[in-house]
Amino acid sequence: MGFSTLKGRNLLSLLDVNAAEIGELLDRAGDLKERAACGERVPVLAGRNIALIFLKPSCRTRVSFVVAATQSGAHPEFFGREDIRFGIKESVRDIAQVFGRVFDGVMFRGFEHTTIAEFAAHAGVPVWNGLCDTYHPTQVLADLLTLRENFGELHGLPVTYVGDGRNNVARTLAVAAVKLGLDLRVLAPEPLHPDPASIAELLAGAESSRAAITVTASPAEALAGSAAVYGDVWVSMGEEEQTDRRIELLRDLKVTPELMARTGRTDTVYLHCLPAFHDLETETARARPDLREVADEVFEGPRSRVFDQSENRMHTAKALMQLTIAG
Ligand code: CP
Ligand code: NVA
Repeated sequence: MGFSTLKGRNLLSLLDVNAAEIGELLDRAGDLKERAACGERVPVLAGRNIALIFLKPSCRTRVSFVVAATQSGAHPEFFGREDIRFGIKESVRDIAQVFGRVFDGVMFRGFEHTTIAEFAAHAGVPVWNGLCDTYHPTQVLADLLTLRENFGELHGLPVTYVGDGRNNVARTLAVAAVKLGLDLRVLAPEPLHPDPASIAELLAGAESSRAAITVTASPAEALAGSAAVYGDVWVSMGEEEQTDRRIELLRDLKVTPELMARTGRTDTVYLHCLPAFHDLETETARARPDLREVADEVFEGPRSRVFDQSENRMHTAKALMQLTIAG
């Protein structure tokens, strides 16, 4: 394996990497996935130590980084909210310097993007954003790998995101669109549209001439010809007090077989970063049945790729850690 420009780098958002580097991450992840399927391990991080900081809860991000680190030969260590009391007992800056002296890389899930940026500025080792209020880049790497597995070429690929158009996943997909030339449509009611100035700024700096971002409340405009319909929860972590209002705004955009049919294609895939509220019984879904953003016929249906995405979190996390630590 040759020298990678990713060595020593952070991934705080996809804005930190260029299209070629995203391609390198996806190629490596695909290769590692094939090798893992044959039982092969690539222990290029033997003897290394990885810190996983979670100030918000997690299932997929935690398991994918733990297993990816272990299969790469590294030791992962988990830190929860109560272990790392930023700003209460110690400053972000001091903790970052301690972690940077001890660990070879740090995955950080938190709230404000400025906190993770401050942490990365003082850690001196690669820091990967495992979700913040603004971005979720390690998720979208897995999504891009899943899209590539299904459609091969990402250039010009029409993808429709449905839901809260201002959240971390929608924003990260918009960055991916301008890097790689996706034809991204954001389908959301007007109060949940992303800030037009931020979209214009992203498009002005687009790396690919195929990049397009359409923000619309019209299902017909957003869905026609789409290769993928991408859902997320209507209420992101930390926004729970907005639940009633979100249901009011989004209830007509629940992803049903009828909504999927509006793409006019039979090969459209359904994607979701998970966790999802669908028609299966969970405590939350039972308490608020109208908070379900997707019908089971779609979530469990033959065009759903949601568990491929989950698995791909692990392969992309492995590629990210290997390339940024070992090169
Ligand atoms: N998609 C995702 O990040 O899931 P978790 O919140 O469970 O990590
Ligand atoms: N937008 C969601 C993503 C969860 C993976 C959240 O922030 O809760």
